[in-house]
Amino acid sequence: MKHKSSSYTEELKRLSALRNLDKIRTGVNSLYYRVVKTHTDRDGLGNFPVNGQSFRINKEYLLSEFSQIQEAHSIERAKYYIKRLIKSLNEIRLGKLNDINLNRWKEYNDIVTDSLWEIDKRDRSGTHTAGYWGNFVPQIPNQLLRRYTKKNDWVLDAFLGSGTTLIECKKLGRNGIGVELQPSIARKAQQAIDKENSEIPMRCPVIVGDSKQLNLSQEIKKYGTSSVQFVLLHPPYWDIIKFSNNDSDLSNSKTINDFLSDFGKVVDNCSKILDQGRYLAVVIGDKYSDGNWIPLGFYTMQEVLNRNYSLKSIIVKNFKQTKAKRGQERLWRYRALVGGFYVFKHEYIFLFKKIVPINSLSSKLQK
Ligand SMILES: C[S@@+](CC[C@H](N)C(=O)[O-])C[C@H]1O[C@@H](n2cnc3c(N)ncnc32)[C@H](O)[C@@H]1O
Repeated sequence: MKHKSSSYTEELKRLSALRNLDKIRTGVNSLYYRVVKTHTDRDGLGNFPVNGQSFRINKEYLLSEFSQIQEAHSIERAKYYIKRLIKSLNEIRLGKLNDINLNRWKEYNDIVTDSLWEIDKRDRSGTHTAGYWGNFVPQIPNQLLRRYTKKNDWVLDAFLGSGTTLIECKKLGRNGIGVELQPSIARKAQQAIDKENSEIPMRCPVIVGDSKQLNLSQEIKKYGTSSVQFVLLHPPYWDIIKFSNNDSDLSNSKTINDFLSDFGKVVDNCSKILDQGRYLAVVIGDKYSDGNWIPLGFYTMQEVLNRNYSLKSIIVKNFKQTKAKRGQERLWRYRALVGGFYVFKHEYIFLFKKIVPINSLSSKLQK
């Protein structure tokens, strides 16, 4: 590699000592074209030594930083941008709960921070398959894991289904535990997870069991951890899809109150092993019954809020055709016009943070 970060840094330092804005611009311009012509390094610029590690830098990011310096209207502003760039090239400032380098936050264009998620195509890379009725798109766990976990953290998915979350864990270098009630589905999920490649060996076991009752502390100890750092819950949307004939299956709950009470039991069970200050996400949609909209999303949100959690975000995600409704769009449009309702086109991702119980806070204060 011809141009290492040290040479960029040294040149930037030299430029920031100049007293003439035009000279700074000319110097930055030559750095700009040096980067543009780095053809040998297609993914970005390599071998930047930071904190004793070597890491890559995104070419577009570097070019946009150079442009900003060139467009600065005053010498003070140009020097401020140079100083900031030197810092971002030489220091890593990781997020508290993730591995996002905040000094280079502009590089993370693919991390969504808006509350409206429009995902038009399912990620079909690796061992993901779209075959399991009721699965979610891999982009959901992918986004959440990158925001709320670090490499080597432990993730729990208590309604694993086809294993989407654990496949993403493996790809992203996170450990994961999945719980699935149906043995045959759990087996298939484990096979898909095992086949997925990962840069470093990750532990991603699938446990067959009822997430309301399973002794999770005992289970996760077998894999060498005593807690998890993120919980992802994608429960049945009550009885919209009947997943099995098992009475413990949440899709077989007899009434909405039974469904919510069972869902609450799963939250309680998972909370026992989730670290304080860490996040829990619920992915769920609403349903219609006898012509009435049943807001399952907000009901389940309230179940979580009845416990020791604070609400951090409500994300609305677009909802593409399901297998059930494929080819029936015109019929649903007609039904909507006749019945005076709207056709579901969205579902929710609720994000919660586990907080210290108020009782234990006040007892600590009294001591
Ligand atoms: C909506 S699906 C999850 C799909 C998953 N996110 C995926 O991408 O494949 C819900 C899953 O929860 C399972 N399930 C239902 N009740 C359960 C329970 N009490 N304990 C564990 N799993 C349960 C169902 O068998 C089903 O596979």
